[in-house]
Amino acid sequence: MAGKTAADPKAPATGDHLEIKDSRTGKVYTIPITDETIRTADLRQIKAKPDDFGIMGYDPAFMNTASCRSAITYIDGDNGILRYRGYPIEQLAEKSNFLEVAWLLRHGELPDQKQYDQWQQDITYHTYVHENIKHFMEGFRYDAHPMAMMTAGVAALSSFYPSSKAVFDEHERDIAFIRLLAKMPTLAAFAYRHVKGMPYVYPDNALPYAENFLSMIARMSEPKYEAHPVYARAIDILFILHADHEQNCSTSAVRAVGSSQVDPYSAVAAGVAALYGPLHGGANEAVLRMLEEIGDVKNIPAFIAGVKDGKGSRLMGFGHRVYKSYDPRAKIVKSLCDDVLRVAGLSKDMEIALELERIALSDDYFVSRKLYPNVDFYTGLIYRAMHFPTDYFTVLFAIARTAGWLAQWEEMLLDKEQKIARPRQIYTGHGERPYQAKVDLGHKIKK
Ligand code: CMC
Repeated sequence: MAGKTAADPKAPATGDHLEIKDSRTGKVYTIPITDETIRTADLRQIKAKPDDFGIMGYDPAFMNTASCRSAITYIDGDNGILRYRGYPIEQLAEKSNFLEVAWLLRHGELPDQKQYDQWQQDITYHTYVHENIKHFMEGFRYDAHPMAMMTAGVAALSSFYPSSKAVFDEHERDIAFIRLLAKMPTLAAFAYRHVKGMPYVYPDNALPYAENFLSMIARMSEPKYEAHPVYARAIDILFILHADHEQNCSTSAVRAVGSSQVDPYSAVAAGVAALYGPLHGGANEAVLRMLEEIGDVKNIPAFIAGVKDGKGSRLMGFGHRVYKSYDPRAKIVKSLCDDVLRVAGLSKDMEIALELERIALSDDYFVSRKLYPNVDFYTGLIYRAMHFPTDYFTVLFAIARTAGWLAQWEEMLLDKEQKIARPRQIYTGHGERPYQAKVDLGHKIKK
């Protein structure tokens, strides 16, 4: 927070600060530094003329702007560290489960036994959706993209729970967390079955979260579906790994939309829409397409040469805006992929992926640019081995990220410093000019 002293350009500097000299006026301003950050609002005092708006920060794509203070997820990209509420992702993937992680993300602490049992029971008993939601999903074309169905389905839930508009009522938020986490797998499974032309399967509330999801995906005429335990655990771990990733595109969308105080279903629908984009949730799909294009281990050297000379495509699943070492999630996913392929059988894609990784990690082009496998390099292989269609991968991501979106949404709502998200702009258009029609608009009444 800018203190009185620091905001006054004539006052002596105290604490860590920047001194900024305005070449237009010769004035020197003292801007406090807190958490290695300055407040761009402190720049507004810098004016050439008294009626100027004041200096703004220009930061397209928020490359260097913190939009919030958050205590949820910590990432150290240089050292390959990811923690939820302080717990290393490796330990959570090994010892926790998705529902416990969803609780942790929201509440900041692991649940005790009573809290966990209640949480699990609540989520298990809210898995059903209103029959009209089922009919709504049935209304989509046979070839609808499942992410389009998800975006619309989550937004439609808003109309079934109008009381969720009371976003500052803690009870309403509690029930919204439970409903959204419980119903996302049901919506996702309905979208899957719709595209396949198969009858929708209702939730089986006797099953744990991942097993119930797989039952809704795969059950046919059998009275009870039992997922392979390796597949069920793989899904649960992938949900943990994708549960949150601090202020990424979809989370920022949820926070921005939620800052208008709209209900959480509408805010999460915005997150699903953002995730749908190929630059965000779609990279694992691109990895599989690349592996198909390579086709055989013997074609790898030519493919790598194309990547390096810029004539071919990028090596998909490599590199990350934040991680400049091995993405910690990629390590976990790689060993998970081994487990799944032991059950499903080694695929040609996996052979190509392993060889690609081996070559890239020893090639100076990739090493010098700090390009390491990211989480998406192996997730697509797991989903394919489990027979999920390629355009369904992002749906699995959306189920998991719902936990993070909701935790971030609530943190934003309860943060006293937050207001409706409303960036500034640098206007580059025309100055004022008189209106002169170029077409006849057919106005009946003419003055
Ligand atoms: N293959 C080949 N070269 C690459 C790659 C790649 N995958 N990624 C970056 N480079 C090169 C790039 O050409 C540039 O080289 P030079 O300095 O010679 O011009 C240098 O590395 C820096 O690249 P950049 O584009 O400035 O890096 P960025 O931080 O803007 O991009 C990225 C990050 C993820 C968009 C990029 O690495 C990429 O396109 N990767 C492939 C797509 C992919 O796997 N995306 C999934 C990301 S993980 C998703 C998630 O966490 O949600």
